[in-house]
Amino acid sequence: MKTISVTINGEAYVETVPVRMLLVDFIREKCGLTGTHVSCTYEGVCGACTVQLNGEAIKSCMMLAAQADGHRVTTVEGLANGEELTPLQKAFKAHHGLQCGFCTPGILMNMTEFLQKNPRPTDDEIRRGLVGNLCRCTGYVHIVDAVRAAANSAT
Ligand code: FES
Ligand code: FES
Repeated sequence: MKTISVTINGEAYVETVPVRMLLVDFIREKCGLTGTHVSCTYEGVCGACTVQLNGEAIKSCMMLAAQADGHRVTTVEGLANGEELTPLQKAFKAHHGLQCGFCTPGILMNMTEFLQKNPRPTDDEIRRGLVGNLCRCTGYVHIVDAVRAAANSAT
């Protein structure tokens, strides 16, 4: 067991966890932040578990909770400012960027960082940016529409 301190969405979580506990399980089970999903049974291929570690999008099933000790994590619950959605969240709502919504938290966390690094992406760049996030419902067309709209709304 190891005692770790991780700041998630601005709040410090100090917990004693098994050394082999994955970050995604720490976020969901110890911190109760269940907006971060698991879809591919921890194989690193679906992207549903994507969060930001120190501002960088990562797959939280590919990292141990102990490795996040002392670091800053943002989950989908930390995106909106109270009731005020981010431009990307608003664009997903306006452009029907989700159906069942299971993939959506991971896509939002990935694309939030993507747009910070590339605020004027082409559609090809958006599609390449989404390569690590699987969506079984939408066919991606509306997701690309939403990311493009969010980029345009920022100008
Ligand atoms: S649960 Fe982490 S990539 Fe699928
Ligand atoms: S909206 Fe259902 S998996 Fe993407």
